Amino acid sequence: MSAGLVRRRGLLRGLAGGAAAMSALPHVRRGAENRGAGHGPDDVYGEDTRTRIPFHGPHQTALLTPPARATAFAALDVTADDRAGLAELLRTVTARARLLTAGGDPEPVGITGPPPDSGLLGPRIPAAGAVRLTLAAGASLFDGRYGLAARRPRRLTAMPVFPDDDLDPAWCHGDLALQLCADSRDTVLHALRDIARHTRGGMQIRWRLDGFTPPPRPSGTPRNLFGFKDGIANPDPRDAPLMDRLVWTGPGAGEPAWTAGGSYQVVRAIRMLVEFWDRVPLAEQERMLGRDRETGAPLDGERESDAPRYAEDPGGEVIPLDSHIRLADPRTPDSAGRRLLRRSYSYDRGLDSDGELDMGLLFCCYQRDPVRQFEAVQKRLAGEPLTDYVKPFGGGYYFVLPGVRDRADWFGRALLEGRSREEDHA
Ligand code: HEM
Repeated sequence: MSAGLVRRRGLLRGLAGGAAAMSALPHVRRGAENRGAGHGPDDVYGEDTRTRIPFHGPHQTALLTPPARATAFAALDVTADDRAGLAELLRTVTARARLLTAGGDPEPVGITGPPPDSGLLGPRIPAAGAVRLTLAAGASLFDGRYGLAARRPRRLTAMPVFPDDDLDPAWCHGDLALQLCADSRDTVLHALRDIARHTRGGMQIRWRLDGFTPPPRPSGTPRNLFGFKDGIANPDPRDAPLMDRLVWTGPGAGEPAWTAGGSYQVVRAIRMLVEFWDRVPLAEQERMLGRDRETGAPLDGERESDAPRYAEDPGGEVIPLDSHIRLADPRTPDSAGRRLLRRSYSYDRGLDSDGELDMGLLFCCYQRDPVRQFEAVQKRLAGEPLTDYVKPFGGGYYFVLPGVRDRADWFGRALLEGRSREEDHA
């Protein structure tokens, strides 16, 4: 038996214990198995993205997996007439997701009419490298239209405007948020077209941003468009009790019962002013972020997996007090409970109307409580030196629906078919 197999079985056992909850195996890089129990970035950024994660289960575990090579994030407006129409829409999305994430044969071609599938992936939807999908709801789904106001997840609001934001309403919010991730762009686009085609009349794309993750260069965590490794310091998605504390909604959170197993997703479309950035001296770039550009190590360390030692540098001589990593997580007991599971992507939109390069970060994070976690971090980052080089222009707050438990279940069933409000609080 290979070391890899041993490790995977151990991992599965661990997951089955802490949260019967967790049924999926986040992708583990081949070769990372020899590195003991550490959870350095090498463990989570993998080439082996062909391991399929099960679609059915209490959570949408696709969000635990490391960023894929390609993604499409689509915010959607629901146009269904009534609650029955919304239920029909969610049943349809579930059925398409079941097929698209598992692979298989599209329905047979009839004698007349268009073919049942775009054909982008050939005659069959391959199981290997199949798309991974996450479906979430925005606060506007809980307005008066579908009688869901009393069932809104308690911490779900429209994304507020933060001090350095320059938000374009055309790039914000949405009743639903659909994220598709895969090893290749055509797999993502195939899934997007499939879902759009089957949900015509029920929803429309409000805004969409496609992203990508480059391969690690030369190793470890992939780099963002500033050339820095991004996504290093993340809670370990394989630690099920930690995920229960930081990511998944569960008992005791004061939430409606239907939300159990879901998660809050914060998405921020942040343009990075790369032409401006490329004129900044390297040492200044590194002091702004607090890490070495080449290795990804904190400025007081050697390897990207090294933890910064802020207690030894109270004045910020080595890692400036206003550096991005030090503000984002000062590594205190208080900040430990505010950690985010970050799953960001780079994006490229070509040129703006002034002919300047239009690219940046599709920042995405998951948490149990967006106020206690994301907003606390965002507030600490307000006014950091990096704000001169980035411009948040869009995004939204969403609630990732609990997972689809079995073939009879569908996204949002507990939300739409659950009991009355009085009975409904955990
Ligand atoms: C374009 C904007 C941004 C850029 C270029 C950026 C870049 C980076 C980089 C290079 C790191 C260090 C490597 C790592 O640990 O991942 C980092 C860490 C981090 N960033 Fe950002 N980031 C951006 C926006 C944000 C936002 C909006 C938030 C949340 C409000 C955030 C939260 C964090 C956190 C929590 C860490 C880990 C800090 C630690 O534990 O040491 N970042 N970011």
